[in-house]
Amino acid sequence: MKERVKLHDKSFKPMISAAEIAQGVAKVAGGLNEKFAGKEAPIIMGVLNGAFIFLSDVVRSLDFRCEVSFIKIASYEGTESSGAVRELIGISSDITGRDIVIVEDIVDSGKSIEYLCQTLREAGARSVTICTLFLKPAAYVGCEKIDFAAFEIGNEFIVGYGLDYDQYGRELADVYVVEE
Ligand code: IMP
Ligand code: MG
Repeated sequence: MKERVKLHDKSFKPMISAAEIAQGVAKVAGGLNEKFAGKEAPIIMGVLNGAFIFLSDVVRSLDFRCEVSFIKIASYEGTESSGAVRELIGISSDITGRDIVIVEDIVDSGKSIEYLCQTLREAGARSVTICTLFLKPAAYVGCEKIDFAAFEIGNEFIVGYGLDYDQYGRELADVYVVEE
């Protein structure tokens, strides 16, 4: 772990190590393994860009058959949610009657997850399961049930393991929190 990370104008300090993240990944994968054992293959739907590392770790711990797909949306500018969700890459296959597992890096206000659930249901998904690496319970105002969350954190801004500050910091193996 690095002692300090500087990205753009901000400085970040260590918060969660790669080893702890691996435990969180195992917890989420374990929940999915229980839920989908013996079921029809779901589509694991990663939310780009942030979830690319989490998804690649989770799927390698799954012991049921699944498909992998991605959707790309954006809502954050800097360290604040803009409140408006933009769809940058849509659903690329027919999901009618399919069970979908959304894989998010972090659920904050819940705007993104609500938008995704609505979009997937409108496209004919039979069920939507939500899993996320991080959840900010104090910020979450959505109505969707978050089925699997590896870590609950406060309303602080974090980077690393896929999460970015204006596109920087995704490559960090550990997670860092902004220093005020
Ligand atoms: P929401 O729509 O407010 O729930 O925001 C969710 C999205 O905002 C996530 O998918 C992230 O891309 C981004 N986000 C929220 N909190 C953080 C954070 O602490 N660090 C980096 N990105 C974040
Ligand atoms: Mg994201």
